[in-house]
Amino acid sequence: MLSASARAEIAAHLSKYPTKRSAIIPALHIAQREIGWLPDEAMVDVAGLLDLQPTEVRAVAGFYSLYFKEKVGRHVIHFCNDLPCALRGADELMQKVCQSLGIEAHGTTADGEFTLEPAMCLAACDKAPMMQVDLDYFENLTEEKVDEILRAIRSGDIVLDKASVVRSAL
Ligand code: FES
Repeated sequence: MLSASARAEIAAHLSKYPTKRSAIIPALHIAQREIGWLPDEAMVDVAGLLDLQPTEVRAVAGFYSLYFKEKVGRHVIHFCNDLPCALRGADELMQKVCQSLGIEAHGTTADGEFTLEPAMCLAACDKAPMMQVDLDYFENLTEEKVDEILRAIRSGDIVLDKASVVRSAL
C-alpha cells in the first residue's frame, strides 16, 4: 500500500532513533500524509518497516486523534466543545456549522472537502470558541467567521498547515 518513496522516507528516519520502534510517530505521519488517513494495510506496512506487530502500531494510532482510522475529508475540523468553549456558545455554533455544511458531527461533506469532529479542549480556552482545521487554529469564532474561514479554505484563499506536526516530530 505505501509507495516506494514513503517507504524510503520512513527508512531514512530510522537512523535518527535508538530503536526502530521510536520512529513510529513520524512513520505514521508519513503514511497518513500519503494516503490521507490510516487504513489497516498502511499500519501493517508501517509495522513491517519498524519490525513491530500491527497491533502495536494500531495501539499508537488509536491513541491520537490526529491519526485518522477512517476515511476523512481533505480537511478535518476539530471543533472544540469542551466546557470553556461550550460556555461561550460552542455547541450552538457547531450545530450551525453542521447545518451549513449539510452534515452531522463525525460526518464528511458531499464534496469530500470537510470532516467535522467534536473535540475535547484544544488548549485555546482564552480564545473560545475555537476550532482546529488540519493543524491550524481559528479562534474567537462566530457563525459568520466560521462561514468565511471555510469558504476561504475551499477557495484556496487560506492554505492550511498539514505538515508542521511531521516537521516537529522528525
Ligand atoms: S475548552 Fe475549547 S480550547 Fe479549551
